[in-house]
Amino acid sequence: MQSRVGSHGTLEEGGKDPIMKLANPARPLQLRLLQFLLLFLGVGIVFSFFSMYMIRYTGGPQNVVAMSEPIILPCVPEPSSLESWVKTPLSLSHKMNDSELFWRASFVPRINTYPFKRVPKIAFMFLTRGPLPMAPLWEKFFNGNEGLYSIYIHSLPLYQPDFPPSSVFFGKQIPSQMVEWGTMSMCDAERRLLANALLDISNEWFVLLSEACIPLYNFSIVYRYISRSRFSFMGVFDEDSPFGRGRYNANMAPEVNITEWRKGSQWFEINRKLAVDIVQDNIYYPKFERFCRPACYVDEHYFPTMLSIQSPQLLANRSLTWVDWSRGGAHPATFGKADITDKFFKRIFDGKTCIYNNQPSTLCFLFARKFAPSALDVLLEHSSEFFGF
Ligand SMILES: *[C@@H]1O[C@H](CO)[C@@H](O)[C@H](O)[C@H]1NC(C)=O
Ligand SMILES: *[C@@H]1O[C@H](CO)[C@@H](O)[C@H](O)[C@H]1NC(C)=O
Ligand SMILES: *[C@@H]1O[C@H](CO)[C@@H](O)[C@H](O)[C@H]1NC(C)=O
Ligand SMILES: *[C@@H]1O[C@H](CO)[C@@H](O)[C@H](O)[C@H]1NC(C)=O
Repeated sequence: MQSRVGSHGTLEEGGKDPIMKLANPARPLQLRLLQFLLLFLGVGIVFSFFSMYMIRYTGGPQNVVAMSEPIILPCVPEPSSLESWVKTPLSLSHKMNDSELFWRASFVPRINTYPFKRVPKIAFMFLTRGPLPMAPLWEKFFNGNEGLYSIYIHSLPLYQPDFPPSSVFFGKQIPSQMVEWGTMSMCDAERRLLANALLDISNEWFVLLSEACIPLYNFSIVYRYISRSRFSFMGVFDEDSPFGRGRYNANMAPEVNITEWRKGSQWFEINRKLAVDIVQDNIYYPKFERFCRPACYVDEHYFPTMLSIQSPQLLANRSLTWVDWSRGGAHPATFGKADITDKFFKRIFDGKTCIYNNQPSTLCFLFARKFAPSALDVLLEHSSEFFGF
């Protein structure tokens, strides 16, 4: 049969053999089947590529349902830019607790030249109970110096500030916690202020102030004095008295030896390096928390002692904030309306000398405390003659 087909193909066309009749139409059928299979395979391949492509944009099978609805492309994050790391945060609110915040605030660049134009700012950090009665005087002080300062306020958690949106203090409240005078919660609040301020890479100097503080010079003088100083202004004394070394507890050794124990004013100005050192400290903190409790006032000892051990060469060992202890007692004098006279400010400004960048200077204090709310009106009225702003 095979040979007949082979040799007499033409004869066999429409031949009698029923098998042959079937054999002939079988060839186009196989071909069509093959074509069909190839097409099927092709469609399959195209479809699988299409599926893989879709999966990349929809995130896989769990989103398949979404495909029957109008396809909404998920937000593709903007490519990272330096901007997001170096610009001043728009809002001071965040949801980090202290461990998270301090960790984030301790990030330090290891390359010392900034690949962008960085204008160093002074962070003014107000540690308050509630209201800021001297706010109008500070507003006048800050006016016209935008871009050279930042403001942070730590007040008691339940306090609701009522600054109008036009105020420089509007929205400057940081997430705060309870503070008790003379306890570690005070240092916690100061570290919280530093940590929040460190989140802005432009902040280079950090000044701690209270609601009873006022500025004694205009902004340009304050900025120049702080930015040109080779030292940070932390008051540091080794006082051999019941209120100095008398508060030392031997359990603090070996981290803190009695010869290293220091006392100083709580109201400091420090640079960014020292601010990071304070926020990241876990060597001295536990010792002070455990062994410096009233009548050891931890806010008068922790930072002065710690920084004097770690970085004595960076400290001016004096505070920039004038205060009057001459009346004695646990708290310094508070000044009200009746105290504010020319003579009063002469007392602050004149006759004092101090060391500034290793040179004698008569400009020693940039801020003063404590001032009662009643002093505000007269201070505002005479601010240009008293303070030059
Ligand atoms: C902050 O939150 C983390 C994670 O929940 C927790 O481990 C840590 O103890 C918290 N820190 C504080 C100070 O509450
Ligand atoms: C404290 O320091 C002094 C001088 O640096 C040293 O003589 C003394 O042994 C130290 N004391 C302790 C307990 O480490
Ligand atoms: C501050 O005191 C330390 C010693 O605690 C000293 O090393 C440093 O030079 C002093 N600072 C200035 C500006 O004199
Ligand atoms: C700041 O005060 C100084 C001294 O009183 C004065 O020379 C300077 O012009 C004042 N600067 C501004 C911007 O008011």
